[in-house]
Amino acid sequence: MDPVERLATLDALQQEAAGCTRCRLAEGRTQVVFGVGDPNADLMFVGEAPGFHEDKQGYPFVGQAGKLLDKLLAGIGLERADVYIANVIKCRPPGNRDPVPDEIEACEPYLFRQIELIEPRVIATLGNFATKLLSGRQLGITRVHGQPQSVTLGGRQVLLYPLYHPAAALYTPRMLTVLEEDFARLPGLLDLESHEPAEPEPEPELAAATPAEQLGLF
Ligand code: URA
Repeated sequence: MDPVERLATLDALQQEAAGCTRCRLAEGRTQVVFGVGDPNADLMFVGEAPGFHEDKQGYPFVGQAGKLLDKLLAGIGLERADVYIANVIKCRPPGNRDPVPDEIEACEPYLFRQIELIEPRVIATLGNFATKLLSGRQLGITRVHGQPQSVTLGGRQVLLYPLYHPAAALYTPRMLTVLEEDFARLPGLLDLESHEPAEPEPEPELAAATPAEQLGLF
C-alpha cells in the first residue's frame, strides 16, 4: 500500500472507530480517542486508555501523564508531532478503572490495524496493558521494562520497548528515574533499527593475559 492509500485507510478506520459500539464503554464516553501524531512515524507509543481530559479533548495523553510524556520526548529531542500516540482502549473506562478483558478484546483490532498501517519500527508500550497485549506474554512491566524485544505485528518485525507508564512515574520518584533512563535509550534503538545490520567488527587483537588475569583475579 502506498503512503497516500495508507493515510486514507487510517482516516477511514478513525471514522469507523468514532461510531464504535463494540463494548459498554461506548455508553459513557464523550468521544472516541483514536490516536494522534505522524501516521508515518518510526516510533509509536501505546498507552492504556483515555482518562478524563483525553475523553473531553479527543486526544491521547493530554493530562498530567501526557505532560510528562511531552517532557520525556523533549529530553530526547522529539515532540509529539514526530511520533504516533495511541492507546489499547479507545474509550474512557468509567472512573478511570482498569480495562477488562472483553473491552480489550473488542478494541484491540483498532490498535492492530493502526500498527499495520503506520508501520512503526519501534513501539514503546507504556505500562502493563499495552506491554502484555503487544508482547503476547503475561510478564509484568516491572520485569520487562527497558528490555527491547523483537515481535511480529501486522506481518512485520517490530522492536517492542516496554516502559513504565508515565502516570505511575508521576507519583513514584524512583520509577521516574528508571523511566527517564529507559527513555534515554530510545534514540539508540531507533538508530539501530534504521540501519542494515553492520558488517561484524574484526576481532580486536587479544592482549596477552597477565598472570593475575590468568588466575581470574580481574
Ligand atoms: N493514560 C493512558 O494510558 N492514556 C492516555 O491517553 C492518558 C493517560
